[in-house]
Amino acid sequence: MRNHWYVTAWEHEIPADGLFSRIVLGEAILIYRLADGSLTALEDRCCHRLAPLSKGRKEGDCVRCGYHGLKFDSEGKCVEIPGMGAVPSRARVRRYPACVKHKWVFVWMGEPDHADPALLPDNFASDHPDWRNLPGYLHYDTNYLLICDNLLDFSHLSYVHPTTLGGSPAIAQAKPSIESISRGIRISRYVYDVPPPPFYRSLRPITGNVDRWMIYDFLLPGILLLHSGGRPVNSAPGDESCTVDLRACQALTPETESSTHYFFQQAHRIDQGDASITQLLYDVTVAAFHEDLAMISAQENNIALNPDAPMLGLHMDAALARFRRLVADSLKSQREVLSA
Ligand code: FES
Ligand SMILES: [Fe+2]
Repeated sequence: MRNHWYVTAWEHEIPADGLFSRIVLGEAILIYRLADGSLTALEDRCCHRLAPLSKGRKEGDCVRCGYHGLKFDSEGKCVEIPGMGAVPSRARVRRYPACVKHKWVFVWMGEPDHADPALLPDNFASDHPDWRNLPGYLHYDTNYLLICDNLLDFSHLSYVHPTTLGGSPAIAQAKPSIESISRGIRISRYVYDVPPPPFYRSLRPITGNVDRWMIYDFLLPGILLLHSGGRPVNSAPGDESCTVDLRACQALTPETESSTHYFFQQAHRIDQGDASITQLLYDVTVAAFHEDLAMISAQENNIALNPDAPMLGLHMDAALARFRRLVADSLKSQREVLSA
């Protein structure tokens, strides 16, 4: 899907004075900072002999190829060819629209004219004075849709994350509500009177069972914005003193057909825990996401053995089936535009 903003990096990954490269949708992209602090994103492939520009060097707001020295400006136009007076106009590399929002670096992979900042997701909790988090990244050797499937069905918490995320069997038994929203779906799951995940007790003085909620938007091309939490069973109305309130932002960005970048953070309220809690939440999240990684990688290995083996559709697949239709619709309209 071309016409979408893709999370390509955490802002801190882009050096103050150097070159950063990452593959998105099978295209190598070079990102670097300009003197005014903004970012530029260029095709990381020199138009001369296709060497990566990221192997060259930054010269002011320009980049010089490290192979034979062609120099490109921040728009991707070649401005100097060593030993040649005139630079042919076709000597250029592609420039991608890019921007930073709440610490995520987004790159628009489609037609530049369609790069509308209004389409950026609201990942506010990654960079907000009331919320604290640590940025995370995981690399998957898996097609990104299998990971979307996983995130669209939290019934797996009961079996993949029984200890890390407190996945009681009641989570799989609860039926989530699913509604369509602009460019995605909203999923709400409530679970009552279950043991809390162990880390809840580090955030709040919780002793017994809790009522939990997990409410999230899952947006094209693969962005999850989650509001989750819990409060002790039978809390007095209005008493939030033992309520755990969390926000998470996650982004899946295809690197290639068979590999995926996974950016994530789990934020807690600044008045619910100190820096050690931020670290604890990060550690729990990383541990849980490695549990997903192990299961999804094993699943994909099995699928690769027999790609035609049918899957059995069940009620718990409702959200992921709906999201896959959104992906198919997006690809269909893209093909229609291309063939028009
Ligand atoms: S490959 Fe870049 S200058 Fe030759
Ligand atoms: Fe999971």
